[in-house]
Order: sequence, then structure tokens, then C-alpha cells
Amino acid sequence: MSSIRPAGLQDLPGTYRVCLLTADAGEDGSGLYANPDLVGHIYVGPYLVGQPEFAYVLADDAGVAGYVLGAADTREFEKWQEHEWWPTLRAQYPSTTGSTLDDDLIALLHAPAIAPDGVVEQYPAHLHIDLLPRVQGVGLGRAMMETLFESLRAREVTGIHLDVGEDNHRAIAFYRHLGFVELSRGTDSVYLGMELS
Ligand SMILES: CC(C)(COP(=O)(O)OP(=O)(O)OC[C@H]1O[C@@H](n2cnc3c(N)ncnc32)[C@H](O)[C@@H]1OP(=O)(O)O)[C@@H](O)C(=O)NCCC(=O)NCCS
Repeated sequence: MSSIRPAGLQDLPGTYRVCLLTADAGEDGSGLYANPDLVGHIYVGPYLVGQPEFAYVLADDAGVAGYVLGAADTREFEKWQEHEWWPTLRAQYPSTTGSTLDDDLIALLHAPAIAPDGVVEQYPAHLHIDLLPRVQGVGLGRAMMETLFESLRAREVTGIHLDVGEDNHRAIAFYRHLGFVELSRGTDSVYLGMELS
């Protein structure tokens, strides 16, 4: 029996694991990376630590099976990361000219993806959601998104965006089904947005 609850720091190992197990366009990415922590350092850790009021997990007796993580004000969150999150990781993982997938993630620690102004102005919040296969397809993704939306609406946040790999067709279809519309395209990703009011 799974339940959605606010995330706490005790959920860091489980959420990092879910992140890695969904890191290959929604499929298991554990074979892609030599360092299993890097994806979580980018897509999970700063949200649980920096925006805990917008972090929720789906937990069952086998552990953490999914999460939805939000940042209410993307620009403020980027500033927080610059001061509080990236410096330690940049010191641990110096910039490299290597070309492995781990090197690509290390490059992101040093030059994080910045959402375009046009996206952030109308859709200031952003989110990440990942569920393990054992809990996919039974309505829990929608339930988690709605849990996050409610907490953002309660803080009068009016719009939310996300950045999804253009090859993750299943997730894009899910987001569109929930009402997200395409805002712009990056090199290999799509920005989608939705009004919350
Ligand atoms: C994408 C993901 C979050 C969707 O969550 P989910 O629990 O599987 O989806 P749900 O069962 O809650 O579906 C909610 C609704 O979306 C619809 N939906 C889900 N996937 C869909 C798809 N590929 N195409 C069209 N509709 C879809 C469902 O039919 C359902 O509709 P309804 O509520 O109107 O009946 C989940 O499958 C997942 O975590 N996948 C792996 C990781 C991933 O890709 N994360 C996104 C990274 S950007």
C-alpha cells in the first residue's frame, strides 16, 4: 500500500535511487553512469533540501517509489543553488573536458540549465516527477502532480513549467494530458507550461 506524503531528509537515499532508476528517458539509467549520485545531486537533492515545502514522496513498504519536487520561484531557487548547493559539488567534481555521460552531468554542476526568461515570467515554478514502474499507470502520477499544484496554489503561484527530454514521449503525453502546453524547445528537450490559477 503506497501513500503520498511530504518528503523529509530521510528520503534522500530513496529519492536519489528513484532518480537513477528513471534517468534514461524514464527508464533505468543505472547502467549509464559510473557515479550513481550525480543525477540525484542535480535533479533531487537541491529540491528536498532547498524547497522541502514543495517536495512529496510516494512511499510503500519497499521504500520510496516516486517523488514530485517543485521550486516555487525558479529564479530565487537558482540563486539559492548558486550559494548553497553547487559550490561543494563543484569543489568535489572539478570541471572536466571528458566526454562520458558522467562528464556531461559534471558540466551541468558547473553550468546549470537556466530556463528562458519568457518561460519563467509566465510560469515561475518548475517541477520534476519520477515514479518507479511498480507504481506507474494507476493514477498516482496525476495524484502527485495535483498534490504539488495545491501546495503551490496555496502560496499563490500562478504558473509552472518543466523541461522534459524530447525522447521521453510517454512523459510528454502525460503532461499534455494534464493540460501542459509546449512553450519552447531546447537542444534536446522541450519546455512545457501550465497556468495554476
Ligand atoms: C510519466 C509519469 C510521471 C506518469 O505517471 P503515471 O502514474 O504513470 O500516470 P497516471 O497513471 O497518474 O496517469 C494520469 C493520467 O495521464 C494519462 N496518461 C498517462 N500516461 C499517458 C500517456 N503516455 N499518454 C496519454 N495519457 C497518459 C492517464 O491515462 C491518466 O489519465 P486520467 O487521469 O485522465 O484517467 C510516470 O509514468 C513516470 O514517472 N515515468 C518514468 C519517469 C519519467 O519519465 N518522468 C518524467 C521525467 S520528465
